[in-house]
Amino acid sequence: MTRAPSPRWLRRPHDAPAPGFAYGADYNPEQWPREVWHEDIRLMREAGVNIVSLAIFSWARIQPAPDVWEFGWLDEIMDLLHAGGISVDLATATASPPPWLTTLHPEILPVGPHGETVWPGARQHWRPTSPVFRTYALKLATKMAERYGDHPALVAWHVSNELGCHNIYDFSDDAARAFRIWLAARYGTVEALNHAWGTDFWSQRYTEWGQILPPRLAASHPNPTQQLDFKRFSSDALKEHLRAEREVLYRLTPEVPVTTNFMVMGETKGMHYADWAREVDFVSNDHYVHPGPQGLDELSFSANLTGSIAGGHPWFLMEHSTSAVNWQPVNLAKREGELARDSLLHVAHGADAVCYFQWRQSAAGAEKYHSAMVPHAGPDSEVFRSVTRLGALLGDLSEVAGSTRRPARAAILFDWESWWASEQDSHPSSLLRYRQEALDWYSAFLALGVRADVVHTGAELAGYDLVVAPVLHVVPRALAKELNSFVENGGHLVTTYFSGVVDENDHAWLGGYPGALRDLLGIRIEEFAPLPDGRSVTLDDGSTGTLWTDPITLTDDTVEVLASYTSGDRAGRPAITRRAVGRGSAAYVSTRLGAEGVRGVLARLLDGAGVSGELPAPARGRVELAVRGHGATDYWFLVNRTDEPVELPGVDGTLLALTAGADQRSAGQPLVLGPRGVAVVRR
Ligand code: GAL
Repeated sequence: MTRAPSPRWLRRPHDAPAPGFAYGADYNPEQWPREVWHEDIRLMREAGVNIVSLAIFSWARIQPAPDVWEFGWLDEIMDLLHAGGISVDLATATASPPPWLTTLHPEILPVGPHGETVWPGARQHWRPTSPVFRTYALKLATKMAERYGDHPALVAWHVSNELGCHNIYDFSDDAARAFRIWLAARYGTVEALNHAWGTDFWSQRYTEWGQILPPRLAASHPNPTQQLDFKRFSSDALKEHLRAEREVLYRLTPEVPVTTNFMVMGETKGMHYADWAREVDFVSNDHYVHPGPQGLDELSFSANLTGSIAGGHPWFLMEHSTSAVNWQPVNLAKREGELARDSLLHVAHGADAVCYFQWRQSAAGAEKYHSAMVPHAGPDSEVFRSVTRLGALLGDLSEVAGSTRRPARAAILFDWESWWASEQDSHPSSLLRYRQEALDWYSAFLALGVRADVVHTGAELAGYDLVVAPVLHVVPRALAKELNSFVENGGHLVTTYFSGVVDENDHAWLGGYPGALRDLLGIRIEEFAPLPDGRSVTLDDGSTGTLWTDPITLTDDTVEVLASYTSGDRAGRPAITRRAVGRGSAAYVSTRLGAEGVRGVLARLLDGAGVSGELPAPARGRVELAVRGHGATDYWFLVNRTDEPVELPGVDGTLLALTAGADQRSAGQPLVLGPRGVAVVRR
């Protein structure tokens, strides 16, 4: 019973209060004695919590043996939560198979590229393509749906947990079998696959499907298209698992929306979430900050991209942390104001739910040093006071819930396939990092105080004045056509080194780089010229390039050179070019300029496109602006990116919330954002 999921938000029980923000956490009551449950509910109410995600890792408790089902404890906690006015986003509980299952069926355990078994002992030790695992998981999902489908606390289903977090790549025989089926559906014939994979290279021609394997440990670089297809397949295989569980839930409880938590964050790149987004009723995301100079920018980038793949509709922040995590080399506690700022930055980019991992900090297990809403110190703690303040503040903002993101005039084009393909082995440089390049451009937008949407390939570009497509490596013919029309219709396109190089089969476009975009850009490159690690070159606009340079020849009289190299083997040759096309233009940046370095060229390109910041000049770069709205009402989210107070002269409208700072406007003075403070203004 597949249905094309149209956006559906949490199911609202008859007696539900008016809609507003959902606020809560993963809740793992099975880790605690019953007396604690009662205290939990009391404290949840105190903190303004109105939703929890339950049973995510409860399989071993619910089904302690193949034919034994123990729902009593879960019934009790579901009832307690409901009586406390707290809704439940209920997991299908299939995330982590219990020891009896892996003992009975060791054939569900994933296998690494070297043939090594991934043993139980942690979590998510299952093959996405194992028919045996699928059978057990669907049985559990069925039992959960039958038991709780009508429970008044249930507002959404949470399929598994962070699918692919640990098990995206499995090289087992099950995976090999499923990979062949996937390839047969993609190519139809072995001959077509031979063509796509370029198997005349190194005598790799296949004569039967059965000869094809996942890219397991090989003597040298495995076939690049095989690697790329294995990435596509692996994302699809887990998506198939999501669909299989979802179909059970849709059949038994069609009125309950289904989601699963994505990880649009950092270097998590195995799952093609723009594609997965079509499979859920609403998009959910998990995000954890990696402290560092671009930590906050990365949060904004991820939230922004999540908002785009959610199609502009509100989305659910399923997990983030109140303070430190436990899995970084050094786990930093959040500083004053960061808890609220981080949460509200997600809301600024469209989240209508703010949830943490987890409600109560575990006393035992691998996550006992991971922060929670109730820390080891208990409710008499700054963390608990902060989450309680945030709960109240989200209440003050309830009119914002349901509003959608207001599009920016500029965008960054994010392309999963280019991410996958550009970082494969046997390339001109192993140092290229796709997402970092994209993030650097985003940081530059933030530093210039210009809003930019982060959109995925396939999203409508027509409304944007300027689109930056960093390292757009994979450019099939249709995408080249789309970018040409974007520019011909007056759009300004910016792209970088190693773009336009291959088609969807990872075959080089011939005739000179950047192949598919060569004519549009009016340039030609005969040979790549990456730089060794630690080597840099200077440009005559004062910036410095690393990683890459290109010996560019201009092929069109209208191409303007925006900057040239002044050192290295390319000294005197163009480094940054722009070709005017009617009212539009196509620019090329042939080196890696870094987050600060791209600012100068971005400012010039924005100027050329007539795009500027919306905030008063002194606040630009220090304050991030994100806009949501409904009807004629806009909500401005103003987020202080610095550790200093920032004045916001000339920002009018009704102040709905302010986490730190002062509204001095009635005294004729400006609104002031305190360090790391956030203001929400209705306009
Ligand atoms: C997520 C996961 C949670 C918890 C959290 C810790 O990856 O879904 O269960 O482990 O990370 O940061």
